[in-house]
Amino acid sequence: YTVRSAKFVKAAVSLKGLPEEHLPQIAFLGRSNVGKSSLMNTLMGQKKLVKISSTPGKTRELNFFKVNDEFFLVDLPGVGFAKVNNAKRDQMSDFIREYVEKCKDLKGLIYLVDIRHGGTPIDIETVESIRATGCPVLVVASKRDKVNQSELAKGLRDIQQRLDLDQKPLCVSSLKKTGLDELWTEILEAIHS
Ligand code: GTP
Ligand code: MG
Repeated sequence: YTVRSAKFVKAAVSLKGLPEEHLPQIAFLGRSNVGKSSLMNTLMGQKKLVKISSTPGKTRELNFFKVNDEFFLVDLPGVGFAKVNNAKRDQMSDFIREYVEKCKDLKGLIYLVDIRHGGTPIDIETVESIRATGCPVLVVASKRDKVNQSELAKGLRDIQQRLDLDQKPLCVSSLKKTGLDELWTEILEAIHS
């Protein structure tokens, strides 16, 4: 898939802040630090369009990026990030839940899981609550470059089993730019369905 243009359109902190233009949206969700923002940069062929950092909790708003004037990729805040003034884990904030439930332009969610972690209780809980909203969710494993062949096989098995998937998930590396063609195919399918 060829990205001819990719631009940051806006950040939203409430449903009122969603883009007015009605184009299909694909959003990226997953635990803090799993690589959501990096993957979006890599998919869009940009290095720094989406802000990334080694500090978990970098992304705090919904950030909308318009690709080829055809659809939006949406960067969501990480789940399971302990907020400063709230000792409780913020599995999936009310705002993200509201967005997933109410935004008619949202065609699907890419849920990222670190291949090294194989699906944690937070991942299991969050994926279940997204499925309950009826929004299509595609689980994708991240950071392929961090594991060897046997760790990869085990990670994929664990994720498939724990997140109750029909098949083994795709595994991508933003660093090495692998698995991207397969992921684009899934994204375009979701957009056009
Ligand atoms: P939050 O915004 O905090 O929820 O994090 P995020 O999921 O957006 O993660 P982000 O893209 O900011 O990446 C977190 C860290 O992981 C950064 O240090 C990235 O450089 C690193 N990282 C992301 N993707 C990869 C990858 O494919 N391979 C490797 N080795 N590191 C990666
Ligand atoms: Mg981020």
